[in-house]
Amino acid sequence: MKVKQVKYLIKTKIGGKELICEAAKLLNSDEVVAFPTETVYGLGANAFSDIAVSKIFKAKRRPQDNPLIVHIAGIEMLDLVAENVTSEAIKLFKEFSPGPLTLILKKNKKLANSVSPYLDTVGVRIPSHELALKLIIKTGKPLAAPSANLSSRVSSTSAKHVLADFDGVIPLIIDGGECAVGIESTIVDMTKEIPVILRPGRIKPYDLLKILPKVKIKDSNEILIAEAPGMKYKHYAPLVKCVMAKDIESAIKAYDLALNENPVIVGRKKYIEQCGTENVISLGTSLDDAEKYYFLALREAEQRYSYIIIERFEEEESLAIMNRIHKSTGGKIV
Ligand code: TXA
Ligand code: MG
Repeated sequence: MKVKQVKYLIKTKIGGKELICEAAKLLNSDEVVAFPTETVYGLGANAFSDIAVSKIFKAKRRPQDNPLIVHIAGIEMLDLVAENVTSEAIKLFKEFSPGPLTLILKKNKKLANSVSPYLDTVGVRIPSHELALKLIIKTGKPLAAPSANLSSRVSSTSAKHVLADFDGVIPLIIDGGECAVGIESTIVDMTKEIPVILRPGRIKPYDLLKILPKVKIKDSNEILIAEAPGMKYKHYAPLVKCVMAKDIESAIKAYDLALNENPVIVGRKKYIEQCGTENVISLGTSLDDAEKYYFLALREAEQRYSYIIIERFEEEESLAIMNRIHKSTGGKIV
């Protein structure tokens, strides 16, 4: 099929009813239309049509097995794209959507297979950009849309970038100005027992922990845990400034930078030996020791020093102490 020339729409035409109608007509004829979202521009197609979705892959030169995110206009469209949606997922959408959050959910088989071939899941997002929402509503269908850039190139945060990559390849780009967020959405896989953050974004792990009791970060053994209900006040807080160091180098760096603040490093024997700083407080040698001496060490530290830097515990069984450290530091990491 002959592809029509790109019509690059200037900003003054943004949001005009006619423009959205034209775009929706194209989408309902299995064409691809680029549209703005608050994160980055998307390359959209009717998520129920394999013909339309395959055009996205072709235009982007994207490998067929890299799944797409499906965009809907509100929670009421969720059933069209997903199945067995958990109450936690609904709560997340209610808290953070419309907005830069994508949830991986069980897929509704009515979606075009090419949206996420070989998978029984689908990424779902409710964007907050007014034009994106209007477009989905006018089209009356969920829109599959990856970022509007050629595969492996940088994402597009303005219509000009989209034009540079797709001039003459797609029939329409809706210009909605610069994207407010500028990085792609946070992706959370809700199909796992403990939800996993697959891609970090504007919505942070500790934002998610307002809703989720636990969350994991991909490629990390760390499990982040929400404060128990009723613990909204800072607990276990020492009287002086207190942080957790991500590793030994960061601990030494934070210590050296804070020399005039009378700093101390609190950690297990091996750790403080490796740090080699003058002011240290030992938490003993084992994990059991560390749990046993943790509060004692903090009390001693707050009496004698003004800046406490605490070791981070890697082991999975150290959740209890990590929970206390998180509360003592208020989540501050150096
Ligand atoms: O902000 C965003 O999310 C933008 C705008 C346009 O909404 N979209 C976006 O799409 O960044 P894309 O295709 O560039 O990145 C989506 C990422 C890809 O790395 C893809 O592999 C992953 O999400 N993904 C999509 N569906 C998935 C699924 N069912 N399971 C796991 N990963 C998935
Ligand atoms: Mg992308």
